[in-house]
Amino acid sequence: MGNYRIAVLPGDGIGKEVTKGAVEILQAVATRFHHQFEFVYGLIGGEAIDQKGTPLPDETLAMCRQSDAVLLGAVGGPKWDQNPPHLRPEKGLLAIRKEMNLFANLRPVKFYDSLIDSSPLKAEVIQDVDLLIVRELTGGLYFGKPSGRHVEDGEETVVDTLLYKREEIKRIVTTAFELARKRRKKVTSVDKANVLESSRMWREIAEEVARDFPDVKLEHMLVDNAAMQLIRNPKQFDVLVTENMFGDILSDEASMLAGSLGMLPSASLSTSGPSLYEPIHGSAPDIAGQNKANPIAMILSSAMMLRLSFGLHEEAKAIEKAVQQVLTSGYRTADVARNGQRIVSTKEMVNEIKATI
Ligand code: NAI
Ligand code: MG
Repeated sequence: MGNYRIAVLPGDGIGKEVTKGAVEILQAVATRFHHQFEFVYGLIGGEAIDQKGTPLPDETLAMCRQSDAVLLGAVGGPKWDQNPPHLRPEKGLLAIRKEMNLFANLRPVKFYDSLIDSSPLKAEVIQDVDLLIVRELTGGLYFGKPSGRHVEDGEETVVDTLLYKREEIKRIVTTAFELARKRRKKVTSVDKANVLESSRMWREIAEEVARDFPDVKLEHMLVDNAAMQLIRNPKQFDVLVTENMFGDILSDEASMLAGSLGMLPSASLSTSGPSLYEPIHGSAPDIAGQNKANPIAMILSSAMMLRLSFGLHEEAKAIEKAVQQVLTSGYRTADVARNGQRIVSTKEMVNEIKATI
């Protein structure tokens, strides 16, 4: 029996609905396996701006640092879209990643057989897909300075900077190799080395790291080709490792292999201190508050938390098995339902998974 303190940051939009579901699932796991999970709640994103005047209040950050792990829903929404840059919900997300040193974002993409008809792709392409995108999360274009607008030679000018330090590249590529060693032993390093100097250095460092992992195969792939290969033949991939923005885009694309954004969990590992777990989707303003969102991405994120932060493998498996079973029994939220299938709400889906656990 273990005691764990979990910081819950529901955020905005469907973030609130899906985190509520995940907490219920974790409570069911606690009961079944005799653990104590203490949940503490904090503000981040748009609601934090409304209530505290900042997208990441200090007390939220302090609370997260004093917890064993963090669960995050999603932030953002049209209400805050016209805000100045420092008062945008997404700033809260970038800030927590940076402040907690969440350098490695692990995004597993797994195909569930029972969703075979929900994907726009052919069965033979997606069946047995099991890949892991390792996205660098605290560098690159999202953080590089200079960034912003100014006037240059009388003309309105804008700049964003893709900046990495050697050690930042080394640690993310090393993480990818370590993970590949426990899987099918192949790393695809994705870059744009034909154009970008940052990518050429990334490639060099990947080669250096590879020497320490003779049992793991390294290949390089240009990001535009990788985008195409993910649809053409996703089964060729085991672990993909890439810089922040490439990883963001490729993982949304890869979510279609699993059927929906609402199916993909993620873990953000820290260099020190607690890790953070969140679905890869956003706050989905188009369906927020309608009890329609697929809670599975968030629920599978909480399973990743149990496994990676707490070492609770049986418990994580119990969640994953329950999800699989419920899908196999035909329960579908709207995003993964096909014509004629009965559609369940967020709450019904959560209840069914809970009952199965
Ligand atoms: P989104 O991921 O929120 O939604 C994209 C589409 O997928 C929408 O049609 C939505 O309804 C659907 N969708 C997403 N999650 C779903 C789920 N669990 N179940 C069923 N359908 C789901 O991305 P979008 O629309 O580009 O962004 C909306 C807001 O979310 C923006 O403010 C954006 O900045 C923010 N965002 C936040 C993220 C985060 O907090 N980590 C990540 C991505 C976007
Ligand atoms: Mg994204």
